[in-house]
Amino acid sequence: MNVLLVGSGGREHALAWKLKQSPRIGKLYIAPGNGGTSQCGENVDMAATDVEKLLAFAQEKEIALTVVGPENSLDLGIVDAFRAAGLKIFGPTKAAAQTESSKVFAKNLMEKAGVPTAQFKTFSDEPSAVAYVRERGAPIVVKDSALVFGKGVTICRSVQEAEDALHDIFSHQGKEVVIEDFLEGPEVSIHAVCAGSDFVLLPASQDHKRVGEGDTGKMTGGIGAIYPLPFMTQKLMDEIGETIVRPILQVLADAGTPFSGLLYPGLILTKSGPKVLEFNSRFGDPECELYMRILQDDILTILEASASGDLRGLSVVCGQMGCVNLILCSDGYPDEYKKGLPITGIEEAEKIDGVVVFHAGTTVKNGQLVTNGGRVFGVTAVGDTLKEALETAYEAADKIEFEGKYYRRDIGAKALE
Ligand code: GLY
Repeated sequence: MNVLLVGSGGREHALAWKLKQSPRIGKLYIAPGNGGTSQCGENVDMAATDVEKLLAFAQEKEIALTVVGPENSLDLGIVDAFRAAGLKIFGPTKAAAQTESSKVFAKNLMEKAGVPTAQFKTFSDEPSAVAYVRERGAPIVVKDSALVFGKGVTICRSVQEAEDALHDIFSHQGKEVVIEDFLEGPEVSIHAVCAGSDFVLLPASQDHKRVGEGDTGKMTGGIGAIYPLPFMTQKLMDEIGETIVRPILQVLADAGTPFSGLLYPGLILTKSGPKVLEFNSRFGDPECELYMRILQDDILTILEASASGDLRGLSVVCGQMGCVNLILCSDGYPDEYKKGLPITGIEEAEKIDGVVVFHAGTTVKNGQLVTNGGRVFGVTAVGDTLKEALETAYEAADKIEFEGKYYRRDIGAKALE
């Protein structure tokens, strides 16, 4: 079966790596891919956002399944366009992908579905929003409603900080904001493979979103994922499935915009139970890399089942081992950083038992692998326990070299405590 995978990050390298292991895979194309995906299939020089070109390519190459990695392609309606042309594709429609592309939509959806989330209000003008934060006080959370790649959320410790965040949003791209109460507790990433109102849950994992150790500094796209989480129980997973995922899928289906693909609720476990911080409408990155390492079943069958709208009898078994995906970043990320810096040491890192290195921001220039993004690699490791996986990942991370290499030294530290 010929597959087209859309995207260019670590998530897509991991998906390509796992798809390549499927006994059912034919040709695998990745558009546009990165320095690592070319080892799993053929990179195609097309932007993930060029829906028209991607569709023409899929038709020409007799692609049986297209798999969409990034949220911006979904927001452009890639799933709608492929389905209209009679092609099978993994991911939600533009309407269902609003779960991620509009935070205002997501909050209203949660209210309608009775899903636990922080108390909130939405605003489309700065003065009203400022008046609300002055009345509500700090700490408070300000969110740009639009897609801004994980960087649209500001946790404000003072009213002044909230006013500055609002000013920044309204004077740049922002047209709508969500202002919500600050919640405390460990964050958890939930991944549900969905087909309309039916779903299957992957086990919970945890990302580390801030750039600095001790969860300090700026928000990033996510720079470290771990599994398993010592505080998660089957009972809690069942509760999350029934009180969060199921009602959201039902409301979307009832509205005539059923969700298929991957629904990723980002949760916070508060003293009064799990609450939704946000929804994502695709696999998390760095979580996907970790899932592709622990998944025992055929990813092609799983993605195809969702795209076909039938999850009956689907097996999504994950191993009981510990696993980590440690992201190596370019110095300066999530702000400005240099590109084109030579990279060495991947082979040495992958010689270590249990390690697979996924490329994210890399490319090849004149035969040399060089940096090409803020998140450069995902160093994944499995071990008997999370602690063992972490030790192995750090050992591997030290073998990879490029100027300005940065990674957090405390990934998983809180969970191990
Ligand atoms: N793990 C954060 C994200 O994928 O948005």
